[in-house]
Amino acid sequence: MAAASLREYLQGLQESGLDGIPVAQSGSMADAQVAPAAGVRIAPPTAEPLDELQHHESLDKIRKDLGECQRCKLGKTRKNLVFGVGNPKARLVFVGEGPGADEDRQGEPFVGEAGKVLNRIITAMGLKREDVYICNVVKCRPPGNRDPEQEEIEACSSFMLRQVRSINPEVIVALGKFASQTLLGTKEPISKLRGKFRDFHGTPLMPTYHPSFLLRKQGEGSMGAFWEVWDDMVQVLRLLKLPVPEKSRKK
Ligand code: URA
Repeated sequence: MAAASLREYLQGLQESGLDGIPVAQSGSMADAQVAPAAGVRIAPPTAEPLDELQHHESLDKIRKDLGECQRCKLGKTRKNLVFGVGNPKARLVFVGEGPGADEDRQGEPFVGEAGKVLNRIITAMGLKREDVYICNVVKCRPPGNRDPEQEEIEACSSFMLRQVRSINPEVIVALGKFASQTLLGTKEPISKLRGKFRDFHGTPLMPTYHPSFLLRKQGEGSMGAFWEVWDDMVQVLRLLKLPVPEKSRKK
């Protein structure tokens, strides 16, 4: 998408009430009804809680173990391995699919156009990018932005799981169909998965639409998917007992 249309999209979000005034609301764990996942594809079969699985290893140690990774063929075509960014003690972790061209160039997740939309969502939640942790299912760019293949996921996903274990967040948000289906081991469509907390090793995981999907929908003149994402983020904020900024849905 061209920079101008991204700008229009971000402006559209603002005009839709995205920059509303924060109002304090209290939420509780009881608000979250956790739907069981169909199965867990990338995690050890025990499905133990993340904190019990924790090795108490640092993110630095995990990065060091990855090294100049050549565990799958993506290692040959990437410019930079994209490990993850943010607060190592984050209460909230976002997991995307895999780096795109901008991320591959800069070595940081979600720095391109989709990243601008994610930043906007994080800001709308009353948070900063530095408050949360952001990573992907795979750490190297699949050529042409194709979906990562099974052997690439298998080579990489244990590192993502170790990152999540190390951080031990209170909530995980899976961005888009690919991350949601991979983390939850299901083929259910994202339109069915989103909007309900799922269980990921005892940690609530909220599947939601990918920022790139929001960009595509906006290109078609639709803000509906954005508001569905916002509804999902409201549930996340309530679970974290954080204030829910009020957004008015302008017609
Ligand atoms: N899309 C993703 O899923 N991850 C990124 O880091 C960037 C775009």
